Amino acid sequence: MSHYLQHLETVRARFDEALTAQGLRSVLIYSGYPAVAFLDDNSYPFRVNPFFKYWIPVTESPRSFIFYEVGQRPRVFLHQPRDFWHAQPQLPPGEWRDAVDLTLIEGAQAVRGALGSDLSQTAFIGEGPEVIADWGLAAVNPETLINHLHYQRAIKTSYELECMRKANYFAARSHNAARDAFYNKASELEIHAAYLAAMKCRETQLPYNSIVGLNEHGAILHYDHYDVDAPSEHRSFLIDAGAYYNGYCADITRTYAAESTGFFAELVEAVDQAEQAIISAVEVGRSYYDLHVGMHRKIAQILKAFGFFKIDAETIYERGYTNAFFPHGLGHYIGLQVHDVGGYLKNAQGDAFARDARHPFLRLRRDVQPGQVFTIEPGIYVVDQLLEEFEGNEDFNWQRIGELRPYGGVRIEDSVLVTETGTENLTRNAFAAL
Ligand code: GLY
Ligand code: MN
Ligand code: MN
Repeated sequence: MSHYLQHLETVRARFDEALTAQGLRSVLIYSGYPAVAFLDDNSYPFRVNPFFKYWIPVTESPRSFIFYEVGQRPRVFLHQPRDFWHAQPQLPPGEWRDAVDLTLIEGAQAVRGALGSDLSQTAFIGEGPEVIADWGLAAVNPETLINHLHYQRAIKTSYELECMRKANYFAARSHNAARDAFYNKASELEIHAAYLAAMKCRETQLPYNSIVGLNEHGAILHYDHYDVDAPSEHRSFLIDAGAYYNGYCADITRTYAAESTGFFAELVEAVDQAEQAIISAVEVGRSYYDLHVGMHRKIAQILKAFGFFKIDAETIYERGYTNAFFPHGLGHYIGLQVHDVGGYLKNAQGDAFARDARHPFLRLRRDVQPGQVFTIEPGIYVVDQLLEEFEGNEDFNWQRIGELRPYGGVRIEDSVLVTETGTENLTRNAFAAL
């Protein structure tokens, strides 16, 4: 059986389990629709419901439905309006077409008619059109069902892994094009365009807004502005940019120093080494929280080694100073969504880990298990807003921190698959395969 058909079997089994646990018989999943701007007739880019693309690799068919009844063949109702204003959505070829019952529809009422009168044991998942209000559905987006499905999604199928390997390959290829543009002293906008050109896509077809930061901009964690003019000097370049393949995400960050030697190049190398060391420490049964704390200790050592502090590494960590330089989490699950779901769920019943006051931005608390894919993305930045509270603190070497400020910061981000015996680095393998 192909990877996709095996995946479909797994998705069916997962829905069977989750629906049965809720006393439900079936589910109706809506692909969604593009939101329209206020007082306007132009729409925002369409993003498909992740549960829709979980079943079939169809990401650009708004107003479509999947109906699944426990133990039955999935039924797909694809919206194909008779409309001479727009291009018709193209249905991707593939095995999925033979694995489902496929019907083309012009409107939602056709679905209501096809499903029969009793939907009282059917849950709806999606941003529903108003018409479903009187369909007599059991529940709309029931939290317990969604938690159950989210919990299961942490373990990827082999089809999902294939998609993510490909997404990483395309993202890595575009990363190299962006890197070349940086060394050719391009502007941020030109680098962004080089990335898209290598991907052969428009920016709305990426899983998130690319972060393309030159010099100080590398310190702005979600920098999604693109300067039109090149700076007078190219010192550093931080790029965090991804790709989709069949709706599955890549999320990669690389940082480059303009000069191959010197302080900033060495800092990039140190963060890169720390990132790989933590990936080597990934093992089944260990909590991701531990990895995150382990990385803080490594960041403390780097901060000490590069002279940013006058105190030892252990004290840097104990006093909480690493949070000012590495304010975000070590990483997150990745899959159908770039920040994939279920990172705080303890079980399928929806019990959740508490947020930790010291590490409020960590997105993943679960124990490491085979089949999970998560990012590992440490960073060190000069974020002045976070340093303000330490002004005048003699533990800090302010002069040295001032030397890093013009470079912004460093982040290195890979996606890692957990295996029974270790890890597979989807991102580094992708760069190596280019
Ligand atoms: N690109 C978003 C993230 O790294 O989480
Ligand atoms: Mn990430
Ligand atoms: Mn990222």
